[in-house]
Amino acid sequence: MRYLVTGGAGFIGSHVAERLLARGDDVICVDNFNTYYDPQRKWHNIAAAQQQRGYRLVEGDIRDAEAMEDVFARHRPQRIAHLAAMPGPRPSIANPALYSEVNLTATVNLLELARRYEVENFVLASTSSVYGASQKLPFVESDPTDRPLSPYAATKKAAEVLAHTFQAVHKLPISVVRFFTVYGPRGRPDMTPYLFVDKWYDVNPLFCLTAVSIFTATIRMSTTSSAGLWPRSIGPSPMRSTT
Ligand SMILES: NC(=O)c1ccc[n+]([C@@H]2O[C@H](COP(=O)([O-])OP(=O)(O)OC[C@H]3O[C@@H](n4cnc5c(N)ncnc54)[C@H](O)[C@@H]3O)[C@@H](O)[C@H]2O)c1
Repeated sequence: MRYLVTGGAGFIGSHVAERLLARGDDVICVDNFNTYYDPQRKWHNIAAAQQQRGYRLVEGDIRDAEAMEDVFARHRPQRIAHLAAMPGPRPSIANPALYSEVNLTATVNLLELARRYEVENFVLASTSSVYGASQKLPFVESDPTDRPLSPYAATKKAAEVLAHTFQAVHKLPISVVRFFTVYGPRGRPDMTPYLFVDKWYDVNPLFCLTAVSIFTATIRMSTTSSAGLWPRSIGPSPMRSTT
């Protein structure tokens, strides 16, 4: 199976690409290596995948409709994991137009290409931020999501709605995944766990290393992200912040 992974050099995308390669699928990774955080980290994320047959890297921007058409025409992806996005609710407040172009307009273009090239399956990355200020726990998919509190959340919600329309009108099989705070190796450096670790390390490196060992042991125990997969038997996920 041939997969297009947009944002494939990012945190989640690089793991998805590796998993697909490991089970024998081909991966076309599209990423523009933007400077939201250090692009060197992204090159590092894909270093192992780049050694594998079946992996193609397209350095490109999903906003470039012509370039994306070329990717579809040339590589004919059968399935799509659409992870490329401008992330982060807070930074989106200063630049709503950019978030709208990347997270919404480019997504519509990809949905349209997927329809035209008869893609079998389209997975769209959304976010727990669509739940806005909801205090109700645990979150469930049917909770209201019509009061997003940042341009980031609003663009993700809008993309979800458009995906629904494409599914309804064109019968394009689409799944939307609302990630909660995902953490683990290669995690995005702007996210809470990594910001805490950096701050602690400045104050007390020994305490910091101990805390990180406990934290990583906990991750190993759960072997899940917090995307609703945290084992119920050990209580609610400690990761409640939305992203
Ligand atoms: N990490 C989380 O906890 C979390 C939570 C909720 C939702 N999400 C969503 O999951 C997806 C992946 O998140 P992540 O944490 O891996 O982020 P990330 O920033 O590490 O990965 C996103 C990748 O997309 C690329 N990208 C951004 N704009 C692009 C463009 N215009 N063209 C091509 N590539 C572009 C970036 O260079 C980056 O490599 C995103 O859609 C994000 O909104 C993540």
